Amino acid sequence: MNTQIKLAKRPKGLPEKENFAFEEGPVPSPESGQVLIQTIYVSVDPYMRGRMEDTKSYVEPFQVGKVIDGGVVGKVVESKSEDIEEGNYVIGHLGWQEYSVAEASTVRVIDKNLAPLSSYLGVLGMPGLTAYFGMTDIGQPKEGETVVVSGAAGAVGMIAGQIAKIHGARVVGLAGTDDKVQYLKDKAGFDEAINYKTTQDLHSALKEACPNGVDVYFDNVGGHISDAVYPLLNDFARIPQCGAISSYNKGGDDTGPRIQTYMVKSRVRLQGFIVSDYAKEFDQGAKHLGTWLSEGKLVYKETINEGFENIPDAFLGLFEGKNIGKQLIKVAEE
Ligand SMILES: NC(=O)c1ccc[n+]([C@@H]2O[C@H](COP(=O)([O-])OP(=O)(O)OC[C@H]3O[C@@H](n4cnc5c(N)ncnc54)[C@H](OP(=O)(O)O)[C@@H]3O)[C@@H](O)[C@H]2O)c1
Repeated sequence: MNTQIKLAKRPKGLPEKENFAFEEGPVPSPESGQVLIQTIYVSVDPYMRGRMEDTKSYVEPFQVGKVIDGGVVGKVVESKSEDIEEGNYVIGHLGWQEYSVAEASTVRVIDKNLAPLSSYLGVLGMPGLTAYFGMTDIGQPKEGETVVVSGAAGAVGMIAGQIAKIHGARVVGLAGTDDKVQYLKDKAGFDEAINYKTTQDLHSALKEACPNGVDVYFDNVGGHISDAVYPLLNDFARIPQCGAISSYNKGGDDTGPRIQTYMVKSRVRLQGFIVSDYAKEFDQGAKHLGTWLSEGKLVYKETINEGFENIPDAFLGLFEGKNIGKQLIKVAEE
């Protein structure tokens, strides 16, 4: 049988278990040009929360009653394609289900001897590339500059901060637990890290950690964390606006201190971006990330929950900060 997870109803605020429906159906059969894929790793990502809303965005909303989809690594168990063989491992945009049929042209064969299968959904995949292009193209950190990263212990933030270090910057991370703060300083090479949940006066703590002000603010979270960073921005600072997870479950408009005065006074450039804007350059980005990994300049971390039935929980855990590094679910043995 093929267990699937569908969107049962659209959430209001933080999604709950009742927003997801588990259903069983037969394992599908591939037709000419298609492959049958057994799911091994499922990626859960904050942007999926936006897809649960029925609103226009850069990606189509999930449909109520339909299988939820996202990044998946799996094994080809049956092939009716000349391009992909049975036994190949592939990555693709597939359903939250144990087996998927896909056109061979829509998935990419990956090599488990080159890198662990899970890393193709993390450091070498969408989150790693997001960090790479956001930091190098928009952030453009320079030797001696100060870079602040919010959501710093997550899949994107952890890599973004290390890329800034590779470019010679002083890097300060913001994260939600002491363990994460410790990891960033001890393992990921951040110069300083702050637990934004336990720090009484975040602005003062940041000021102390950034005595020369902030030249690049790689923002994953928005909200009151960003409010504490804006007054510290130096002249000609850059803000790659990667995400705003603090507002994803709020519904309606999120308001806070107005930022325009800081932007004008310090001639700040704030640019939102979507990783797919850089699709034509993905190979080049992945090559850089792979080289830094092999040279030991980049480390990465994954939180891997086991069991298909735990996919919704792992997704919900993103909004409680349960993950460190990339959150994945292992559904079947490699
Ligand atoms: N622009 C793009 O193309 C693109 C691509 C990928 C991701 N993104 C965005 O980048 C951000 C990070 O994504 P990711 O995949 O790397 O996720 P992640 O950081 O691995 O996981 C989410 C983390 O966000 C933090 N968080 C949750 N709720 C929060 C809140 N209310 N305030 C502050 N922090 C909160 C938690 O860490 P703490 O314990 O530190 O709170 C949690 O672990 C998200 O906003 C995502 O939407 C954008």
